[in-house]
Amino acid sequence: MPCSDDPVRRAEDLRGQIEHHNVRYHQLDEPEITDAEYDALVRELARIEEAHPELARADSPTQTVGAPPSVLFAEVEHLVAMMSLDNAVSLEELLAWGKRMERFISGGVDYVCELKIDGVAVSLLYEDGRYVRAATRGDGRRGEDITPNVATIDAIPDGLDGDSPRLLEVRGEIYMPLPAFEQLNQRQAEEGGRLFANPRNAGAGSLRQKDPAITASRRLGFWAYQAGTIEGGPVLARHSETLDYLKGLGLPVNPEVTTLGSLDEVYGFCGRWLEHRHDLDYEIDGVVVKVDDLAQRQELGATSKAPRWAVAFKFPPEERTTLLRNIMVSIGRTGKATPFAELEPVFVGGSTVGLSTLHNEDQVRKKDVRPGDTVIVRKAGDVIPEVVGPVLSLRPEGLPEWTFPTQCPVCAGPLVRLPGVSDTFCTNLECPAQRYGRIEHFASRGAMDIEGLGERTVRLFVDLGLLDDVADVYTLDYDRVGEIEGFGEISVRNLREAVERSKQRPLANLLAGLNIAHLGSTGSRVLARSMGHLDRIMAASADELAAVEGVGPTIAASVRQFFDNERNRAVVEKLRAAGVHFEGPGAPDVPQTLAGVSLVVTGTLEQWSREAAEEAIKARGGKAPGTVSKKTAAVVVGESPGTAKLAKATEIGVPILDEDAFERVLEQGLEAGLEAGG
Ligand code: IVH
Repeated sequence: MPCSDDPVRRAEDLRGQIEHHNVRYHQLDEPEITDAEYDALVRELARIEEAHPELARADSPTQTVGAPPSVLFAEVEHLVAMMSLDNAVSLEELLAWGKRMERFISGGVDYVCELKIDGVAVSLLYEDGRYVRAATRGDGRRGEDITPNVATIDAIPDGLDGDSPRLLEVRGEIYMPLPAFEQLNQRQAEEGGRLFANPRNAGAGSLRQKDPAITASRRLGFWAYQAGTIEGGPVLARHSETLDYLKGLGLPVNPEVTTLGSLDEVYGFCGRWLEHRHDLDYEIDGVVVKVDDLAQRQELGATSKAPRWAVAFKFPPEERTTLLRNIMVSIGRTGKATPFAELEPVFVGGSTVGLSTLHNEDQVRKKDVRPGDTVIVRKAGDVIPEVVGPVLSLRPEGLPEWTFPTQCPVCAGPLVRLPGVSDTFCTNLECPAQRYGRIEHFASRGAMDIEGLGERTVRLFVDLGLLDDVADVYTLDYDRVGEIEGFGEISVRNLREAVERSKQRPLANLLAGLNIAHLGSTGSRVLARSMGHLDRIMAASADELAAVEGVGPTIAASVRQFFDNERNRAVVEKLRAAGVHFEGPGAPDVPQTLAGVSLVVTGTLEQWSREAAEEAIKARGGKAPGTVSKKTAAVVVGESPGTAKLAKATEIGVPILDEDAFERVLEQGLEAGLEAGG
């Protein structure tokens, strides 16, 4: 963004930018920047105009609302102008607004606190109780006629209940509920259509359609929050009475609306919703606080753009745009090549995000993100940050599509994707990335539990040629270790003792540490318990292995394949020679990372059967019930999840874990696992 010191030029520049973004947001439903970035531009312009009153203009975007109606729709003149709201971007600013109200009004103020629904503002007109017209806000004076589209929305009644007024103009927000948004994007992806970045864009795009049948298919919702005009109805003295009246007429009014008598309580309401914003099945981006008494509102009046009697307390942004510098690939211990986004770091949803996983090749293709794109990054609540998609209108011309590399970035070996599988693998068993990963895993708590042999030490030892495979742990050259900077006598002794102790680990932990594809801790435990000795497992045929209860054909084939490999057998012999304990059963020692935590598993995971996933949770002290409830700490979601479980989870705001997040949570516990994703 060019930043000029000259206020005249800067104001002009800002006005140009804001007008451009108004059209993108209000007319095209395809914003290029996030709401918070837009608000920052308007605030900067307002500051300049305040400091230089000679630059203020009546048609400045600081004084006007929205954007003029698009030519796609007929124009509608609003009976009463539809205004915007002033924002408070912190609780301090909210309190400053409240203090202004209380200074201006003597004798106490009641506040109505409402959720700020992130949707599209509309005005509905009812004559003698019949729905006759709907319009967007437009520039506040004139909006777009969207009567047939809005008529398709179930939540909006065709006729009002009871004793209806002669004329009612009611305002509210049309929004897309989260389950409908997810379903829509899923459908769009299947049909190769455009993906919507968020429910607000999806809702606005669905509403502003030439063909109302499209609107009808999109399952939109509506909350009424304000009366524009009431003729031939009761005389109402308070906003809270107005909302009750609208409810009585059969219009949906949000159930969370609360009238409060003090700023302290208002503060509490805002704080609570800031924390619980994800407990709802629709998106909110703040709380609107309104003076309740309509006579007091009259006294307070309005500026050209917004009433003085209301303020929007805006939540900190959970979406930001940033530059996608590059897409890189990381190699895991199984050789899995995972693409990830290297971003120009942005502060979003409470933390700085510089890297974000893109999961696999198909995901990159589906999102159509390319190095050099401006992308939307989202971090909502506890959820792991994600790259939502590109801002297509800002894509530099000719920006090439990203293609999955054919060579491993670590060992330059081939990267292979087998048909029917979504992941790509480095197939070189000698790849250092895999070697690091395999040894790190072998030494980890869930396997041989060798304290002092963590990620950094393993890398160092591999790089120095001290470790080549997992069995080398038992023939470490401690004289050389003692020569490494940072390894004093005590740390060498501690490491030696930890290595020695690990020889007595239960068979299940040894098995789990061998890095056999598909064999996790649960499968290892089942095999150890039923076969009792590593030699018996090594000698068993795939059928014999598959006959063990809890071991599926995939695991059985993988175990067989592993021990058929000569190199792997040589490693086992080295372990035997070192005196590693091969005999079971012995209860495996699994760290109780999920003590008392309830996780629900739904859908098909790639590496885990449902039973194995649930057993893994239980083995760590957790619970794995079949239904989602308030007690559910998180829902683990695979392919084709149960819609009821997903809808319930979304409804009550339970975090959703994908397979990677699930594995992290298993290992590190819920909080640390979720955080590690960030
Ligand atoms: S009252 C004059 N109440 O926020 C007051 N607005 O810029 C008019 N919004 O345009 C708005 N939830 O689209 C009000 N409970 C609520 C709202 C709400 C969402 C939107 C509305 C408005 C924008 C403020």
